[in-house]
Amino acid sequence: MNVGVLGSGGREHALAWKLAQSARAKSVFVLPGNGGTSPNVAVCPTDAEAVAAACERLSLDLLVVGGEEPLAAGVVDRLATTSTLAFGPTAAAARVESSKLWAKRFMERHGIPCAEHAEVATTAEVEAAANRWGGRLVVKADGLAAGKGVVVCDSPARAQEAWHEMRRSRPADEPVFVEEPLDGWEVSVLCVTDGRAYAVLPPAQDHKAVYDGDRGPNTGGMGAFAPVPALGAEALGVVRRTILEPTLAGLRSEGIKYCGFLYLGLMVTDEGPKVLEYNARLGDPEAEAVLPLLRGDLLDAMHACCEGTWDGMGISAGDGFAVDVVLASGGYPGAFTAGREIVGLESVDPDVLVFHGATRRDGDRLLTSGGRVLHVVARADSLDEAIDRAYRNVDRIRFAGMHARRDIGRRL
Ligand code: AMP
Ligand code: GLY
Repeated sequence: MNVGVLGSGGREHALAWKLAQSARAKSVFVLPGNGGTSPNVAVCPTDAEAVAAACERLSLDLLVVGGEEPLAAGVVDRLATTSTLAFGPTAAAARVESSKLWAKRFMERHGIPCAEHAEVATTAEVEAAANRWGGRLVVKADGLAAGKGVVVCDSPARAQEAWHEMRRSRPADEPVFVEEPLDGWEVSVLCVTDGRAYAVLPPAQDHKAVYDGDRGPNTGGMGAFAPVPALGAEALGVVRRTILEPTLAGLRSEGIKYCGFLYLGLMVTDEGPKVLEYNARLGDPEAEAVLPLLRGDLLDAMHACCEGTWDGMGISAGDGFAVDVVLASGGYPGAFTAGREIVGLESVDPDVLVFHGATRRDGDRLLTSGGRVLHVVARADSLDEAIDRAYRNVDRIRFAGMHARRDIGRRL
């Protein structure tokens, strides 16, 4: 099969790496890819027409869509009338992520555990909601906001301010709503599904804040590890029964066909796991930790999902642990300088993976081209050994201003 992966980050590099291991993969293109991937094909991932044209030109049998924006832009819908199968939900099914309010109402319709919400129109209503939830609440914008659509507030005054700010910065016709703050610990459960059969990948934990100890502003994710020892087989069974299966059944009962990755962003509370968010794709940086653990032929499973013939078998969680440490540009998630030369990759251990998040080639040189530059991924039988192995290799790579958290994997 000729396969394409749509996107240009570390998640897409990890997907291309995993798919290339399939006996059925003839070529694996990345569209548009980065300095770590090849062969790359230049295309704008949200331009559905251009993506369809590239798929035809490359005679792709299957396109795997990496990120939420192409999904929301209808790339999968556009490919429906072409000879390329698309692994990823249609724009209507991707509403689980692209409309937080739609997702919230969906969960309420199907009795899926999640935070209570309120649709508010005035600051007085925001204050009343905060008071109902012990003076705290979460303000959420409905649409895709690249991580800027959620503010967790610890006082009614802060809630009113955040609500105003969200109202001001978002389009006038976009709903902004508030929800109950949940207390507990977070975990990401990623699944492969054709809407009926599913396989659960090893649960992962993301580290969103830029500095050690979860301090500083949130980023796209500074690292991840998997599996999460605190979410054992029994707890994962609860997630399947109370969240994953009701979600798939709910989608089917509403006539929504869902084929692709489904990401459950969960808060494990005293009352059990509850959904914070759905994503219609793999998480980044979770994918970089989870895919290297996965056993089996992912390409085969994806292809069968698209054809509607998958039995849910063929891929499994695998053994051991993986840790993904992100090497970021200094200053990220604020302003930073790109174009720094990266050195030391040749001294990385052969069993350690380096997925590129934001790099480009300039002749023989490899340069930084964004905030999350590289993902150093180590696997081992124990979490401690995976962490040590990852950091031993992190310390061999350098670029001016490089910043990494030193505590990835040490949360639980
Ligand atoms: P979301 O994009 O909805 O996952 O929100 C991003 C982050 O905001 C989550 O990973 C949580 O850390 C936090 N968050 C979202 N909703 C809630 C909630 N109801 N209670 C507490 N934290 C939340
Ligand atoms: N790591 C969180 C996300 O990809 O949304």
